[in-house]
Amino acid sequence: MLTALITGANRGLGFAFAELYASSGWRVFACCRNPSKAERLLALAQQYPAMISLFQLDVTSASDLERLVKDLSLASIDVLINNAGVYGPSKLRFGTVTEEPWLEVFRINTVGPLMVSQALITNVVTSQRRMIANISSHMGSIESNSEGNAYIYRSCKAGLNAVTKSMAIDLAPQQVTVVALHPGWVQTDMGGSEAPTSPKESAAGLKRVLDYITLDESGSFFDLHSNEVPW
Ligand SMILES: NC(=O)c1ccc[n+]([C@@H]2O[C@H](COP(=O)([O-])OP(=O)(O)OC[C@H]3O[C@@H](n4cnc5c(N)ncnc54)[C@H](OP(=O)(O)O)[C@@H]3O)[C@@H](O)[C@H]2O)c1
Repeated sequence: MLTALITGANRGLGFAFAELYASSGWRVFACCRNPSKAERLLALAQQYPAMISLFQLDVTSASDLERLVKDLSLASIDVLINNAGVYGPSKLRFGTVTEEPWLEVFRINTVGPLMVSQALITNVVTSQRRMIANISSHMGSIESNSEGNAYIYRSCKAGLNAVTKSMAIDLAPQQVTVVALHPGWVQTDMGGSEAPTSPKESAAGLKRVLDYITLDESGSFFDLHSNEVPW
């Protein structure tokens, strides 16, 4: 059975990934900060008892990661989806940005995915598919930035893109495919209710990308419609 590990699986896009992969017959390691309070995810796990297991993981917590590695032991992970992320304070224009919130977002959005990937690399390498998907954003694209602002979110996702590229190069000898993915503007707590894309549509589009991607495309940045996003 193929297995996906998803961070931030309790709501938003992460939850949609968990639901989609489980309903597609995959085993799902659904990670979130607070499993006992993850009501939707617990209900989903009851719906798919043989497929979904919940794990506690704050992606900034070394002790959570250590415990996860122990709990998973030698279980293989075909697709590791580094989905957990935050936007951070949204109204900070030039002249008002401060250090602390930036560093907090950086730890979650940029450092977290690398720490999770480093910790779980053996589980990925021993799988059939050997894939790592970092959920980035078109806002991390330097080339597409025509509006300025959003210093914190943009720079942290641009940093994640740089992490993605280096991982793709470094893990190529182990035949691990690493990509950055833009989910679109999605109706979640982060994206808001005006967003044109539902979490289900976004997860379906991104799963399609991951289903068809090859090792030759490792180190690329795709959106939910399988189009390449400029770096
Ligand atoms: N929505 C959009 O339009 C959009 C567009 C482009 C990119 N993205 C990216 O897509 C991903 C998912 O976003 P979303 O829209 O689903 O956001 P969301 O609804 O706000 O959900 C964010 C998820 O990340 C988790 N999370 C936050 N900090 C965490 C940490 N330190 N450790 C573990 N989990 C943590 C949250 O868990 P808690 O419930 O515990 O807070 C939640 O499960 C993010 O990486 C985001 O940047 C979203």
